[in-house]
Amino acid sequence: MNKQLYQFFTDDHRRLDELLEKAISHPDNYEMEYYEKFRTGLLKHIKMEEKILFPAAQLANNNKPLDKAAQLRLDHGALTALMVPTPFADLIKVLKFILEVHDRVEEEEGGVYDVCEGLTSHQTDELLGQLRQVAEVPVHKHNDAPIAWQAAERAVIRAGYDFHGIISGKFPLPE
Ligand SMILES: [Fe+2]
Ligand SMILES: [Fe+2]
Repeated sequence: MNKQLYQFFTDDHRRLDELLEKAISHPDNYEMEYYEKFRTGLLKHIKMEEKILFPAAQLANNNKPLDKAAQLRLDHGALTALMVPTPFADLIKVLKFILEVHDRVEEEEGGVYDVCEGLTSHQTDELLGQLRQVAEVPVHKHNDAPIAWQAAERAVIRAGYDFHGIISGKFPLPE
């Protein structure tokens, strides 16, 4: 099977993982230059999935939403809300947990990327062309008002994650 879209998106996951790891390699002193690249990159990645990949797959699926689409959208909402405050240890814990689970659902064999790739195999080049033209998402400065962190908490809980359990270490990162 042609795996160009799978490769495109998983390469981007790895690129974002690396940026995040570089950003947080000194836990007392995050490298904000890397974090900002991660943040704009993640928002662009979500935009590429929500505006191009998933709609094209849905259209090719007789306009029926993909099985996991609703959960992925909730995850994207939680990830986006987590990009608002300046990062700190608890935020990073939750962020990494969701990314790990989310990326696996997209990447696993027979997962969302495989399904999308299969459904859109007649238009792979066209989609890759569109994906390469997606512009960066403009971002605001970080908002450190309590309301921003509370909004992130709500979005994480809405997506079905145990926000406080993750922060307290009840759930280690999945292997
Ligand atoms: Fe995603
Ligand atoms: Fe993704």
